[in-house]
Amino acid sequence: MASPSTTSPPPDVLEKLVSLCKRRGFIFQSSEIYGGTGSVWDYGPLGVELKKNIKDRWWNALVRARDDIEGLDAAILMHPRVWEASGHVAGFTDPLVDCRNCKKRFRADDPKIKGTPGTPDGQCPACGMKGTLSQPRLFNLMFKTFMGPVEDSAAVVYLRPETAQGIYVNFLNVQQSTRQRVPFGIAQIGKAFRNEITPGNFIFRTREFEQMEMQFFVDPAPPDQQKTPYRTDMEWFEYWKEQRMQWHRDLGLSESRLMFHQHTPEELAHYARAAFDIQFDFGGTLGFQEIEGVHHRGDFDLGRHQEFSGKKLEYFDQPANRRYVPLVIETSVGADRTTLAVLVNGYREEQVEGEQEGRTVLGLHPGLAPIKVGVFPLVKKDGMPEFAEKLAADLRAKFPVFYDESGAIGRRYRRQDEVGTPFCVTVDGETIKDSTVTVRDRDTLKQERIAADRVGEWVARRI
Ligand code: GAP
Repeated sequence: MASPSTTSPPPDVLEKLVSLCKRRGFIFQSSEIYGGTGSVWDYGPLGVELKKNIKDRWWNALVRARDDIEGLDAAILMHPRVWEASGHVAGFTDPLVDCRNCKKRFRADDPKIKGTPGTPDGQCPACGMKGTLSQPRLFNLMFKTFMGPVEDSAAVVYLRPETAQGIYVNFLNVQQSTRQRVPFGIAQIGKAFRNEITPGNFIFRTREFEQMEMQFFVDPAPPDQQKTPYRTDMEWFEYWKEQRMQWHRDLGLSESRLMFHQHTPEELAHYARAAFDIQFDFGGTLGFQEIEGVHHRGDFDLGRHQEFSGKKLEYFDQPANRRYVPLVIETSVGADRTTLAVLVNGYREEQVEGEQEGRTVLGLHPGLAPIKVGVFPLVKKDGMPEFAEKLAADLRAKFPVFYDESGAIGRRYRRQDEVGTPFCVTVDGETIKDSTVTVRDRDTLKQERIAADRVGEWVARRI
């Protein structure tokens, strides 16, 4: 079989992905039958598997494979004072302008706005009217709701805009219940909500999304003889930067599409001592954008929660008889944005030698692919469907398997290529004689013949 020749990723890859994701059941517009909800998306049968595989890899790498990080699943609704302490009530704002004519809203720094908003030359980028844009005013990005039966200001609670605060307020609960010693971390995966003024680019910036966040607590003044491999806060910061970049490489994201962006003094949050973004090249007009932040948050968060709650959040180092508020190194990555990066990275259109039709492939890392194996009988007769169905059922005990007997074999391969299935198994006339099948590799298109009872082991080795 001739190997495929890859064309470079199309510039409109996001548009193509929106269509592929809907057609093949990865991602749908939320509440579509009602006209859709702005920038909220639902994950279909294949999308939920793909995102879950990404989240599982994160959880395994950070929580299960290490003895110095504990897991947590804190509630979305928290005491409103949490958001005063964290600075979100006062400072989690974007400047916004309204158009009096078309009623649309924009971020004040939207590059599509011509002239100065609030003056006669400010021009609305949607309706084109001049002088109709308001002065910028600050808009808080937190969603508000009410707790209990009374809808008044005393009952206001927020949907969390980040998961991190659930970790800070549980710092001592986790540390004391697990008897962890600093340095150690707490990790959690969960939903976060931001009333973004300009969401968009599919699942890149949405109003409801999932974060995978880890806060690592370190000693602000570690003794010289401390035996952990890394000692100071900055050594841990460097360690986490590298660990997290490697995790993205291990997802299969291309090296050339990944880079660090160091926050400039103007970009740094006022409490942050250092911050790097891990950026991925989404191509097209988006280009390189943040997928993860690695932040040195100092003792800001624990310090503020001590102040606002009146409860001490100090770690007691028993052997040294010292009490202190640890410093925090945070790693914060979006599950949806990583899913988009994986889709963009994997999408390709190819010509296959000797074939008229090109093929669309999602070159997903086999460990992330929602379906691991497609199983097909070559034709629907001579005992082939029965053999193939039995093989699919056996394999399903180990991996997600898709059985397909409809249409020409070439079309069935193409359908699996398009959803990223790394391996396809075909049952043919020879199978019935000698119990061997062909296994086909999605990327190389190479086929080999192996014993049917070895397929499970063959696939397991490759994922
Ligand atoms: N606790 C720190 C924090 O929340 P952030 O840089 O605001 O930091 C971290 O967010 C990550 O969360 C981002 O790198 C991105 O992957 C994801 N994220 C943030 N806002 C998002 C949105 N509106 N839609 C999708 N993902 C988002």
